[in-house]
Amino acid sequence: MREAVTTRNLSYSYPDGTVALSNINITIHEGERVAIVGPNGAGKTTLLLHLNGVLESTDGEVKIFGKNVNEAERSEIIRSVGVVFQDPDDQLFMPTIFDDVAFGPMNLELDEDEVRRRVKNALDRLGLTGYEERCSHHLSYGEKKRASLAAVISMEPRILVLDEPTANLDPKSRTELIGIINELNREGVTIIVTTHDINAVPQLVDRVYVLNRTIIREGTIREIFSDAPLLRENHLEVPEVFKLFEMLKCFGYNCEELPLSIDEAIKDLTETIGTNGGHIHLHIHEHTHEEMEKVKHKYRYDHH
Ligand SMILES: Nc1ncnc2c1ncn2[C@@H]1O[C@H](COP(=O)(O)OP(=O)(O)OP(=O)(O)O)[C@@H](O)[C@H]1O
Ligand SMILES: [Mg+2]
Repeated sequence: MREAVTTRNLSYSYPDGTVALSNINITIHEGERVAIVGPNGAGKTTLLLHLNGVLESTDGEVKIFGKNVNEAERSEIIRSVGVVFQDPDDQLFMPTIFDDVAFGPMNLELDEDEVRRRVKNALDRLGLTGYEERCSHHLSYGEKKRASLAAVISMEPRILVLDEPTANLDPKSRTELIGIINELNREGVTIIVTTHDINAVPQLVDRVYVLNRTIIREGTIREIFSDAPLLRENHLEVPEVFKLFEMLKCFGYNCEELPLSIDEAIKDLTETIGTNGGHIHLHIHEHTHEEMEKVKHKYRYDHH
């Protein structure tokens, strides 16, 4: 697969001198689903804003499909990379939702029928049909969040970048949004997200970069979740189901790979029951208590 996003030695400081990014090297291939995780203030948003040229660094380079963002035609980059901002108020600025979602396609100078088709599709997809004449200021946060995604997918980008897409969404909207992102990925769209929603990570991506001003680590979800010191240093955590199975291991449960999701947990339990003559054997042994305390301690942020 060709490289969709490549950064080489990308560094960025804000005008006030805040060093936000230092020497970032990432390579994301077309069709991949990747998360960038890290603590508040790690530079995640700053990095994403470099991918479509909202921010331009003079130090290092960003390439989209092999073309340097600072040298390529502006319109070409905007067409390829859609960025859904962390704050939907940064995305929606037109008098109506129709205008907001039509804004991108209009700027691509598409004809009116095509603009209407794209707006209709995008609103349909996000469950916002009927919102055309509404004003974004009068939408709920979750509605705004969906409208800002609609405003980006109407551009039909090859690379979709989402900054905290699931933050503040109710469970139904959250699940639907994850579904839409994955549907777009199946259609070939490259997905790059930042998130603090650790339970969403296994549903959303296959690979993770840990960012803390610079890239601290790159790996599969399991590799990242299995590294306790890495998690602690970067204010990360693991899904509850992952912790629960770590606890079960203290009770003698045998599992090779800790499950990342409920579905994986069910699969693991089913297999274990199958190979154990129809039941699971748990017991309290000499070290159960001690091991459990260790697991608990591993994920605690209130003391070290
Ligand atoms: N416009 C700005 N001017 C100066 N400093 C800024 C500006 N925007 C962000 N920063 C600083 O740059 C650093 C990185 O911020 P950024 O918003 O990229 O972090 P983040 O990883 O997205 O955090 P969060 O998880 O809270 O969204 C922070 O120290 C922040 O204070
Ligand atoms: Mg951010």
